[in-house]
Amino acid sequence: MHEMAIAIPYSSSFLSLLLFSLLLLFESTNAQTNTNISLGSSLTTQDKKPFWASPSGEFAFGFQNIEPDGFLLAIWFDKIPDKTIVWSANRNNLAGKGSKVELTTDGRFILNDSGGNTVWYAKIPAGSRVSYASMLDTGNFVVANSDSAHSWESFDKPTDTILPKQTLGPGSILFSRRNAANYSRGRFLLTLQDDKNLILYTTFLYAEDPNSRYWVAETKCNQVIFNQSGSVYLTASNGSILKMLFTSDLSTRDFYQRATLDYDGVFRYYVYPKFRNAQWPEAWSALPKVIPSNICLDLMEDNGSGACGLNSYCTYDSIGNKPTCHCPNGYSFFDANDVQRGCKRDFSPQNCSQAMSEIDQFDFLEMENSDWIAADYETLNPATEDSCRQACLADCLCAAIVHQFPNCYKKRYPLSNGRSHQSISWKSLIKTRKENATFQLGDGDCKKKHRIPWNLILTGLVLLCCSVLLNFFLALSAIFRPTNRKSKTRVVDQHQGLQLFSYEELNMATNGFKEKLGRGAAGTVFKGVLTLDGIEKYVAVKRLENMVTENDAEFQAEVNSIGRTNHRNVVQLLGFCNEAQHRLLVYEFMMNGSLENFLFGDSRLNWSQRMQIALGTARGLLYLHEECSNSIIHCDIKPQNILLDDSFTARISDFGLAKILKINRTQTTTAIRGTKGYVAPEWFRHMPVTAKVDVYSYGILLLELVCGRKSFEAEAEDQNRMVLTDWAYDCYSETKLHLLVENDEEAMNDMKRVEKYVMTAIWCIQEDPSLRPAMKEVIQILEGTLSISAPPDPSS
Ligand SMILES: *[C@@H]1O[C@H](CO)[C@@H](O)[C@H](O)[C@H]1NC(C)=O
Ligand SMILES: *[C@@H]1O[C@H](CO)[C@@H](O)[C@H](O)[C@H]1NC(C)=O
Ligand SMILES: *[C@@H]1O[C@H](CO)[C@@H](O)[C@H](O)[C@H]1NC(C)=O
Ligand SMILES: *[C@@H]1O[C@H](CO)[C@@H](O)[C@H](O)[C@H]1NC(C)=O
Ligand SMILES: *[C@@H]1O[C@H](CO)[C@@H](O)[C@H](O)[C@H]1NC(C)=O
Ligand SMILES: *[C@@H]1O[C@H](CO)[C@@H](O)[C@H](O)[C@H]1NC(C)=O
Ligand SMILES: *[C@@H]1O[C@H](CO)[C@@H](O)[C@H](O)[C@H]1NC(C)=O
Ligand SMILES: *[C@@H]1O[C@H](CO)[C@@H](O)[C@H](O)[C@H]1NC(C)=O
Repeated sequence: MHEMAIAIPYSSSFLSLLLFSLLLLFESTNAQTNTNISLGSSLTTQDKKPFWASPSGEFAFGFQNIEPDGFLLAIWFDKIPDKTIVWSANRNNLAGKGSKVELTTDGRFILNDSGGNTVWYAKIPAGSRVSYASMLDTGNFVVANSDSAHSWESFDKPTDTILPKQTLGPGSILFSRRNAANYSRGRFLLTLQDDKNLILYTTFLYAEDPNSRYWVAETKCNQVIFNQSGSVYLTASNGSILKMLFTSDLSTRDFYQRATLDYDGVFRYYVYPKFRNAQWPEAWSALPKVIPSNICLDLMEDNGSGACGLNSYCTYDSIGNKPTCHCPNGYSFFDANDVQRGCKRDFSPQNCSQAMSEIDQFDFLEMENSDWIAADYETLNPATEDSCRQACLADCLCAAIVHQFPNCYKKRYPLSNGRSHQSISWKSLIKTRKENATFQLGDGDCKKKHRIPWNLILTGLVLLCCSVLLNFFLALSAIFRPTNRKSKTRVVDQHQGLQLFSYEELNMATNGFKEKLGRGAAGTVFKGVLTLDGIEKYVAVKRLENMVTENDAEFQAEVNSIGRTNHRNVVQLLGFCNEAQHRLLVYEFMMNGSLENFLFGDSRLNWSQRMQIALGTARGLLYLHEECSNSIIHCDIKPQNILLDDSFTARISDFGLAKILKINRTQTTTAIRGTKGYVAPEWFRHMPVTAKVDVYSYGILLLELVCGRKSFEAEAEDQNRMVLTDWAYDCYSETKLHLLVENDEEAMNDMKRVEKYVMTAIWCIQEDPSLRPAMKEVIQILEGTLSISAPPDPSS
């Protein structure tokens, strides 16, 4: 106890530590009795505590009350408020009040309802000498023999979730649940087939058999392993890793983790902080990488009902990584609480025995950029939109048409597999009865309705939340500052709230500079914990090296200038230390680290996230160049210096350091002839350095973001592709831009943007600085408010 207390920097935390330890003590003594569940033990739904907890108390096995008279025999995370279920025995057959699960004296494990009917039982191999059962701390519930060998374990029979230390072998299946509130079997499954292919399938309606596949792992494998340190990967029979599915370097000591095939058909990796922590919400957060990357588009089956139910269409929010199901106008959900079930039409269909006389009672609702893959029964070719419409109106079986000159597809009811996305060039026309159409639509414009700019709304919400939070913190700091100042050393500037820390304080906050976050030209960065304005926060502490000036006043002036910056795309400086040779800067901590980790390789961000980062970085640079009180040239823009916060917003770091550090640009470049990395040619030519050096570096970064590869790849098979700037210009001038993004389906579907962004990047990397646009123009071009002309060869 004494030793533990030393590590806690502030005495205010001591009490909570004490409470926490007492809690642990209580839990562990309490749990002793639960460790081995002996033969003859049972639980009933009416027990005061209808579950057996694991020794740590993190998992529990027992009954969860799902509906008034429906109990699920399940395993769940027991220490978090929402008791998230990770496994269940009887998902399709809830047990009634009075049901009882028993480990019988003869070694069977049976769930009987109050009438004595067996609802579920564990398939324990005949001849096992069962002697006890146990809820383990891993979340695995086991029935064991006297020699402790497991004769049955819940890890072998997963439902929709896998946990750290769990593996899937050939024949394993995860089945999604039906919807958020209903745990019964849903429409999607993930299976490692006996032929060693790992595949995501839909089912036909809610049947059990796989129907159409919508994702297949590229490599065959023997096992899917979820290891202890938060990685999910495929392995060969000799144990070598073939492919990573998910990687988080969050430890299982600090985070609960799980990978779940969700009811929307998406396989996600979730984490939940075990301890209160300023950076993570106290809720499950999904990693940005999900499988598949866009279920609305990836699901190309031609006979099932698609990612959403029948008559329903799917849109994808690529920031939140979530599909959403909608009904076309004139249709509504069967069950608003179960939108996956699909939609029904709200009007009486055309009467086939008088189809012609009803023609004038029907009309079409237009949906640009949308398609309904399945259910076509007739193709007209060539057909103009008008002839396509006439043909459908005259045909009582025709419920909709999908048209793109010269093709016209007639679709029958029910419609299926609908999706809407800007990359789709087809237009759908949904046939509806006019009275309903005018009633429901008003201006009859469907485009506006389903082109909801979710990204903007989400960003807006995030911004709103941030500003609400910020105001809250400002208010808090206003309250706490006066008392705080007594305990802290002194506050440098009331307005910017930049704090002066002692070396000892930072030494303690970083636990003796123990956890290194990274190392750059400016120095080494460490993770720490500080109480700022009454709130305990993670911080990044940068220990500066290579100082240009030993002059105190100059250092202070520069730091104050950095401290005055405040923009959502730059990292906020919180304080500093200036004590003899110790010069340290304290920044807010960025949960997702640097862009470098996400730009290349396996955990690569998706197309729209990369484009958001391109725009965010441009906005941050514009702010530094033109909008903050004294213009700051960064001089070192590169992926390592673009950090990502928990919502993957780009935040520029290390700005303002150029003036106080000696950094020899020409030596920071890679030693490869002909490549300058991110460094503008002025640096080599003793020309004046202006903000245009940042524009150059931004141009390189933009190309990397578009192409998802490094600016220089020594191992490129094709020599012409080694230097990204050269290759990009070649592709551009030969109008073969698709080659740059050929492995990125989302980008391939967004070639207009690829072209615009590549052209912008080529303008940014012109040798002559005066030809490069200013950051303001870059943003206007990227946002589409300024047009762009053909760029010249950057090296001419
Ligand atoms: C459960 O029901 C089965 C079948 O009716 C019966 O054989 C068994 O004894 C019951 N078990 C318990 C624990 O009640
Ligand atoms: C549980 O039972 C097994 C087998 O009888 C025994 O080896 C093990 O030590 C027991 N564990 C505990 C914690 O009592
Ligand atoms: C879950 O869905 C199934 C299938 O539609 C239904 O039979 C069951 O009653 C639902 N359960 C709950 C708790 O709503
Ligand atoms: C889990 O897998 C990752 C990726 O291969 C590896 O870096 C890590 O060391 C593994 N952890 C354990 C505990 O095996
Ligand atoms: C393991 O198997 C994989 C593929 O089956 C093979 O590529 C690899 O070389 C093997 N590794 C070892 C250490 O045998
Ligand atoms: C749908 O298509 C898949 C793949 O072509 C096929 O295996 C499956 O049997 C079909 N399902 C139905 C219900 O027709
Ligand atoms: C559409 O028309 C049908 C039959 O004419 C009617 O039952 C239904 O209520 C109407 N729906 C709306 C939304 O007006
Ligand atoms: C369709 O029209 C025929 C002939 O007018 C009529 O007998 C029949 O009831 C109508 N069917 C429906 C479903 O309205």
